[in-house]
Amino acid sequence: MDTYLAITSRRDERRYDAQPLPDDVVTRILDAGRLAGSGKNRQPWTFVVVEGRERVDALARCVYAPENVLGAGLVVGIAVSGKGPISFDAGRAAQNMLLAAWNEGISSCPNGLADRDAARAALELTEDETPTVVLTFGVPQRLRAPESHTAAEWSARANRRPLDEVVRRLRSTHDG
Ligand SMILES: Cc1cc2nc3c(=O)[nH]c(=O)nc-3n(C[C@H](O)[C@H](O)[C@H](O)COP(=O)(O)O)c2cc1C
Repeated sequence: MDTYLAITSRRDERRYDAQPLPDDVVTRILDAGRLAGSGKNRQPWTFVVVEGRERVDALARCVYAPENVLGAGLVVGIAVSGKGPISFDAGRAAQNMLLAAWNEGISSCPNGLADRDAARAALELTEDETPTVVLTFGVPQRLRAPESHTAAEWSARANRRPLDEVVRRLRSTHDG
C-alpha cells in the first residue's frame, strides 16, 4: 500500500473478528516496531506479546476499554526503560506497528493504562521497565478498503483538527 494512503486511511478500531493473526503478519508488525528510530538509537523498548486467556484477561483489567484487549488477535504491551525521550521513542515504535498492521489489512488500537502498577505486574516487567501503552490488533469486522477513497478524500473525512489550526508558521519580518 502507498505509505501516504496508509496514513490517511488508517483509523483506530476497537472491535475485531475473533481470529488469530497469521504468524508472518505478527512478525512483520513486531519487526516494524523494532525498526523505529530512537534517541541516540538507544531502542529503549521491549514489546511484550501477551497470549493465553488468563494473561490476556489480567492485562485487560489494566486498561480503560477491556473489551478491546479481550477481543484482539494480537496484544502487545510496550515497555520502556532508561533516560531520554522514551515516550516519543515508544510512540514511534507504536505507530510503525499500527501502520505495518494496516498495510496487512489488520486493524488496531492503542489502549491507555488505567492501572499502571497492575500492568507492570501483568506484563512481568523488571524494576527499571515502565509500561507505556497496550496495542491491540485484529482482523477488522468490517473492512474499510483503503483504495475505496483517494488519500485526499480520506484526509478530508478524518475527524481531526484542520491543518491551518494545527500548523503555526513563524517567519522573519524582513523576509517579505
Ligand atoms: C496513547 C493513546 C492511548 C489511547 N487509549 C485508548 C483507550 O484507552 N481506549 C480507546 O478506546 N482508545 C484509545 N486510544 C485511541 C484514541 O481514542 C484514538 O486514537 C482517537 O480517538 C482517534 O481515533 P481514530 O483514528 O479512529 O479517528 C488511545 C490513543 C492513544 C494515542
